[in-house]
Amino acid sequence: MLLIKNVKLVDALGERGPADVLIGEGKILSLDGGEAETVIDGTGLFLAPGFLDLHAHLREPGQEVKEELATGLLAAVRGGYTDLVSMPNTTPPVDTPEAVRALKKKAQALGLARLHPAAALTQGQEGKALTEAGLLKEAGASLLTDDGHTNEDAGILAAGLLQASAFGLPVAVHAEDASLRRGGVMNDGPLADLLGLPGNPKEAEAARIARDLEVLRYAVRRSQKKPHLHIQHLSTKRGLELVQEAKRAGLPVTAEATPHHLTLTEEALKSFDPILKVAPPLRTQEDLEALIEGLLDGTLDAIATDHAPHTQAEKEMDLLRAPFGIPSLEVAFPLLYTELHLKRGFPLKRLVELFTDGPRSILGLKPIHLEEGAEASLVLLDPKERPVEPRNFASKARFSPWAGWVLGGWPVLTLVEGRVVYQALE
Ligand code: DOR
Repeated sequence: MLLIKNVKLVDALGERGPADVLIGEGKILSLDGGEAETVIDGTGLFLAPGFLDLHAHLREPGQEVKEELATGLLAAVRGGYTDLVSMPNTTPPVDTPEAVRALKKKAQALGLARLHPAAALTQGQEGKALTEAGLLKEAGASLLTDDGHTNEDAGILAAGLLQASAFGLPVAVHAEDASLRRGGVMNDGPLADLLGLPGNPKEAEAARIARDLEVLRYAVRRSQKKPHLHIQHLSTKRGLELVQEAKRAGLPVTAEATPHHLTLTEEALKSFDPILKVAPPLRTQEDLEALIEGLLDGTLDAIATDHAPHTQAEKEMDLLRAPFGIPSLEVAFPLLYTELHLKRGFPLKRLVELFTDGPRSILGLKPIHLEEGAEASLVLLDPKERPVEPRNFASKARFSPWAGWVLGGWPVLTLVEGRVVYQALE
């Protein structure tokens, strides 16, 4: 038994407490204290449901030089995540039931965050032939996606949505039109022209979202079951407007935004630092403001990291040659707690929802609220501020665009079904 005394509570229902939270048998047994072997003083801290990341690149199998399950899932629990969806753009891509089972088995043995592997929508993520949605679901796949690649063939996406809907699986898309995006390494516009860098226009995202929503409309019309399209790492104001319109029209679409698109803009590229190279690219202040509005008004359902580790050597190449991606599992919550909640007054209750019930509902998982009988997959957070120190990351990617930023809201204890998977209490 574990007792966390005098701790404030926050979940999607709101802020309350302080309470004395008694944890045992994998559950919250009481909010009024009780006998326990281990007692933690929660004064000044707050307790939330464990976070779920819908979008992380853990690079296994085949790219362990960048990240592996052991380091990625340790980074996850240090970031307060009890659940995580791994992307299938590995080597080879995760496109068979055997590959999904192997990942799940290995993750279970590690006993850190629970892994919900995503599987490829198409064989080899080549965009030509669909994978076996039913068998992948049976093996434990949480959603289907060709993320890391764009879905150029609308017919394949339509067939994929129809097939996945029969098994209750969401299809997640990296919505960028490849022919518009071309070799862009940053947001297209006057700043890219000034810096002399090839631009990736915001229309590449908007055009692809518009198309994918029409494909979804078709799938809805032709399916007996409800298809579910999930739009990954939405980065533009126009893309957001399209999703908002579609939601108002009742289309079954959900969307996520990333910590980097919510806290950084193209202005950062003036440093020419390849750490900032990401797909879709960092946009403008206007886009960033629209995304924050979208978090508030429900156009966006979740904050997902798109944790994309690469080697130091790769990220030290010049902007034209370095790979796309920013690692963020260990800083996502403190970053948004500080930049959105503390600095802008973004409601804490909604912020926590975007890390918990929002992403959980996309996977069809039950919400976790801090009440008696609830599953004890929880995170204890400390508002005390300290700087981001990438050299201390558990992730193999020990670099960060937020290095040195002073943040509060750091996870100090993470529990999965009552089991301590991370602890950094003083
Ligand atoms: O920045 C990105 N990195 N965007 C992607 O779509 C893929 C990802 C990766 O796998 O590194």
